[in-house]
Amino acid sequence: MSTFKAPKGTYDLIPPDSATYLAVREAIAAPLRDSGYGYIETPGFESVELFARGVGESTDIVTKEMYAFETKGGDKLALRPEGTASVLRAALEANLHKLGNLPVKLWYSGSYYRYERPQKGRYRHFSQVGAEAIGAEDPALDAELIILADQAYRSLGLRDFRILLNSLGDKECRPVYRAALQDFLRGLDLDEETLRRADINPLRVLDDKRDDVQKQLVGAPLLRDYLCDACKAYHEEVRELITAAGVSFEDDAKLVRGLDYYTRTTFEFVHDGLGSQSAVGGGGRYDGLSEMIGGPALPSVGWALGVDRTVLALEAEGVALDLPASTSVFAVPLGEEARRVLFGVVTELRRNGVAADFSYGAKGLKGAMKNANRSGARYTVVAGERDLAEGVVQLKDMESGEQVAVGVNEIVAELESRLS
Ligand code: HAM
Repeated sequence: MSTFKAPKGTYDLIPPDSATYLAVREAIAAPLRDSGYGYIETPGFESVELFARGVGESTDIVTKEMYAFETKGGDKLALRPEGTASVLRAALEANLHKLGNLPVKLWYSGSYYRYERPQKGRYRHFSQVGAEAIGAEDPALDAELIILADQAYRSLGLRDFRILLNSLGDKECRPVYRAALQDFLRGLDLDEETLRRADINPLRVLDDKRDDVQKQLVGAPLLRDYLCDACKAYHEEVRELITAAGVSFEDDAKLVRGLDYYTRTTFEFVHDGLGSQSAVGGGGRYDGLSEMIGGPALPSVGWALGVDRTVLALEAEGVALDLPASTSVFAVPLGEEARRVLFGVVTELRRNGVAADFSYGAKGLKGAMKNANRSGARYTVVAGERDLAEGVVQLKDMESGEQVAVGVNEIVAELESRLS
């Protein structure tokens, strides 16, 4: 061990577990790629102001959890705590919304940073795969995203997740609701900090986890009862499309999200095997965000799924992904000449698209065979001086244990045909 450890709230992805993370990212990305989403990558840091304006000045993410710093050049930056503001910033900067048809559909995968109190499922560095559909107001787009996330989770074999769905209204109806909720909250017996929150961001109070607060919230006005006709119709259409797709969901009138940019459709994917950090993914519509960061009106919708928590959900359900071994052939040379010959065989196999590895370092047969076993390779090729003198190598099927001699010049073709 070195003097250093991974920083608090972080962990390293190392083999063999790292293969599961890659597979999860791929499983989430695949349905997006198949649905017209193009890959986008943005910097790991942005102007602090982008998140302050986009995610919201009064949110926990911005006030408590952001890794904000000033550069030597005096720029005020922050490690990205989420992806939506960055992706929209990048799309606007590249004028993607003017170049082609709307919506602009983008997907991304990367690291995000929040200075949170670490616990199982909650880290200071975590990874998300996300999708954003920018510039269209169409309930089918909201439905598409929810259906694709459901498809991704199901393709991984997850079953015990639920989809919570709500509408947060728009700039017409939300202010009316906000005032009504504030009136209600002012009549409760709340501590000072919560009262302050009720002033700045009353919807967040609904999300308070404390029992004594939740008890008082019974009978609080619900946004559902304040939605304007347009929001109501929009939400009904989203619900119908998801239902028609056979995706089940629960209406959750109290679902509020920790980011301020949401309007109308909001949703969360929760997994029941994860304890308190049960949200494996979340998202919604953000029709006003573009204008909040200085762009034109571009109604948009998206989600981000947490890769770390999705892996924990797989563990909780006991799902082992069917990951193919990364190596198909392992070469074990005995002696100098065999090293040269088999190194050549491995190189040729790789060039022909066969995953192959080699026993490096002067190891005896026993140690080399241990490596061969550990590699998960289906076939081992062993050669010593006597084999080469006869112009052959030994081909061992690691599954059946069967071993045959194959001509040095035929071994690549033989392996290719056996593996195809
Ligand atoms: P979010 O709900 O803040 O939404 O994060 C999405 C997912 O990222 C969460 O459901 C969770 O799985 C994972 N996550 C968040 N924080 C942590 C953490 N500290 N440790 C481990 N996993 C975490 C967003 O970030 C929005 N940008 C989603 C979105 C996209 N909305 C519209 N478009």
